[in-house]
Amino acid sequence: MRARWFITIMIVVSMLALTACGGGDGGDTIKIAVLAPLSGEVATFGESTRDGIILATEEWNARGGINGKTIELVVEDSQCNAEMALSAANKVIDQDGVNFIIGEVCSSASIPVSEIAMAKGVLQISPTSTNPSVTVDEDGNTKSLIFRACFIDPFQGSVAARFALDNLGAQTAAVFLNQGNDYVRGLAEFFREAFEAGGGEVVVWETYTTEDQDFSAILTNARDANPDVLYLPDYYSTVNLIAAQAIERGMDAMMMGGDGWDSPDLDRSVVEGGFYTNHYSPQDPRPIVQEFVQKYQQKYGAEPDALAALAYDAANILFQSIEQADSTDPQIVASTMSQGRFSVVSGDITFDAQHNPVKSAVLLQVSGGEIVFVDTVAP
Ligand code: PHE
Repeated sequence: MRARWFITIMIVVSMLALTACGGGDGGDTIKIAVLAPLSGEVATFGESTRDGIILATEEWNARGGINGKTIELVVEDSQCNAEMALSAANKVIDQDGVNFIIGEVCSSASIPVSEIAMAKGVLQISPTSTNPSVTVDEDGNTKSLIFRACFIDPFQGSVAARFALDNLGAQTAAVFLNQGNDYVRGLAEFFREAFEAGGGEVVVWETYTTEDQDFSAILTNARDANPDVLYLPDYYSTVNLIAAQAIERGMDAMMMGGDGWDSPDLDRSVVEGGFYTNHYSPQDPRPIVQEFVQKYQQKYGAEPDALAALAYDAANILFQSIEQADSTDPQIVASTMSQGRFSVVSGDITFDAQHNPVKSAVLLQVSGGEIVFVDTVAP
């Protein structure tokens, strides 16, 4: 008898709980999913991303949440991997009932997530995925529910190419790329396009795969061509390997790369002197930047990298849009977001027709073991 009562009560309690949480936005909370690589090859990307989003969330919740509703995060480790990210996206949508996803970090993972999000009517904002295909489909149409907080790679590649040509006086370049990674392949191609359009010549174009550890064959080709620049548009873990082997082989080309270099685990000794493009510099004197750097440092005891800054920005852009829309309907929030103006750490942002923020890039140099701010380049 008692057992039956107990079961009945439990069923009622769980039904109430389901009503409260159903859709991820009922009751007094709004559930937001975070998809990021918390383990694997590029784990520092995920840690910074998560930490930036947690900081923004705590600030909003301390101010009373979004229109009185507490923000609740559901964090999944999707490893910058397409399959892992797909199953994480399905899990947070189907089981946790979220209407909003912040993530993924890497383009190769964000692109498949965007397809699920569109199919299931969920809004996605990637803090850091720079490949154009994240927000635009194969026919060139903007995916209505998909946004990003970063610039895109055609811009990033051309900033690097212009800098190589104009500031380093480079005439020739070698480019190494992993053809199986959307970000790396795209950035390599955009760099080549801009470098050649500016009168430079790409004299070496070599591909490798995710599994490769030994780059001696392609490095020998590159060394023999004696290029002015060696462009390495991959993530820090792979750049560390290639750059170390390049030095062993006596290559003296100037190494350059993109935002994928941004990590406390970049081996600065092997890319010493090299330049890379990025989204923000903690040395930027704008008050909003310095305030963020100070708060982040206080909470985590480390200087925020670009991933932390863009994650903080993506969260603020999303929360502000939900607040202004006064709705948790992804379509309504997306339309508010697409017309919004956002003053965030990485700049004052509006979205273009393809849901890409219009903003500047920074150029950084690895110099004397430090990361030094060189220049800001406007679009
Ligand atoms: N832009 C990279 C991508 O699209 C991700 C990244 C951003 C990595 C910023 C490091 C810093 O895959």
